[in-house]
Amino acid sequence: MDRIRITGGQRLSGTIPISGAKNAALPLIAACLLTDKPLTLNNLPDLADIKTMTRLVETLGVEATGGDVTEANGGRRLTLTAANITETTAPYDLVRTMRASILVMGPLLARFGRAKVSLPGGCAIGTRPVDLHLNAMERLGAEVELEGGYVMVSAPNGLIGNRVTFPKVSVGATENLLMAAALAKGQTIIENAAREPEIGDLVHCLNSMGAKISGQGTDTLTVDGVDELHGADERVIPDRIEAGTYMMAAAITEGDVTLSHVDPGALEAVTALLRSAGVIVEEGDRTLRVAMDGRVTGVDVETQPYPGFPTDMQAQLMALMARAQGAAMITETIFENRFMHVPELVRMGADITVHGASSLVRGVDRLVGAPVMATDLRASSSLIIAGLGAEGVTEVNRVYHLDRGYERLEEKLTAVGALVERVSDERTF
Ligand code: EPZ
Repeated sequence: MDRIRITGGQRLSGTIPISGAKNAALPLIAACLLTDKPLTLNNLPDLADIKTMTRLVETLGVEATGGDVTEANGGRRLTLTAANITETTAPYDLVRTMRASILVMGPLLARFGRAKVSLPGGCAIGTRPVDLHLNAMERLGAEVELEGGYVMVSAPNGLIGNRVTFPKVSVGATENLLMAAALAKGQTIIENAAREPEIGDLVHCLNSMGAKISGQGTDTLTVDGVDELHGADERVIPDRIEAGTYMMAAAITEGDVTLSHVDPGALEAVTALLRSAGVIVEEGDRTLRVAMDGRVTGVDVETQPYPGFPTDMQAQLMALMARAQGAAMITETIFENRFMHVPELVRMGADITVHGASSLVRGVDRLVGAPVMATDLRASSSLIIAGLGAEGVTEVNRVYHLDRGYERLEEKLTAVGALVERVSDERTF
């Protein structure tokens, strides 16, 4: 298994191009199932999760063509055609590696009247149930059955629009419902919908495919169902979490980094927080400059659905705060078990105490490199940031987590002056 080895203490300086957003691309790939016409996606990042999702729709019968680099930031262009769907079952083998596989349920149900999806089960960051997805499908008239670890949804006579009020904000359930409702009969009103930029991207794509969805950017979305959708040529939005991760990396190394191909508007909560910690953040049209001289000041934060501070940035912020002057109280409100990075950061010299959903981070003068590992994507990237800001060598194990969400991580960091390399553990005997 590969590791990433970082020799810390290098000041980052230069430009990092930001890739297309993994979490926007995944639902767009699922959306191809809604029509028999080609859906072309641009600015796709080259990531393990994107390959898994593409493989999943191919298993169902989708034809995927292209995949070449067409953008200056390395973004790829892929055309997906779901003209010959032969299968409506998303198998365990693929679903267990990626929870977002559940997103094929809404489109399959809407277009073919049935879907069978392996239950994703729990994962490292919490129990992560799918009840909100299933309740939403039931509200549109689907029957839901659970058997042998699979959820089977069916609506032989089609889905019927309805009012769906989510008891809790869910990005995935909002996406699944949007796709199902796009082809339902009549109107669906989604209340307490997620407002993440990735939802906006999906609404844009579905509307380009002929859907009638309004209310984008608010927590109430109205979907007027149509009989069929057509193809489209869409562009995946920039990855705000990748960008936010490099913002933290620039700050912890007291560097001066410009991010290109980014949407500064989607990062306002992160920018505001960094500014209150003393970091200089300058917003351009499609750029963000992040500069820091000295240690940041400890700042308290609570994760919230968009437009609040993202849970997907909590671990990276904690790494930054580990070297702050003063203390930071970091509260996680979205997932119940998203502090797995804490013991690893502590092994690098951080002073962190967990109290339920909050972590008290008392900033220390120095972090010291160590072999570390993490059990999820963002926890792993938090250890990369800590390694960049630490003295000596840090080795982050289980690199496959990083490969799920960060395109060419070592290359991008090396280009701005970090000492980072991928080390293969492959034995030669
Ligand atoms: C999306 O996951 C993202 N994944 C996650 O990013 C992100 O952390 C999360 O949204 C929150 O922003 C993708 O977009 C592919 P949710 P999702 O449904 O949709 C509970 C990353 O690192 N819930 O908004 O699965 C759930 O347990 C990943 O890139 C239910 O109770 O998250 C959580 O507490 C990790 N029942 C809360 O809602 C349900 O049926 C929000 O989860 C669904 C969710």
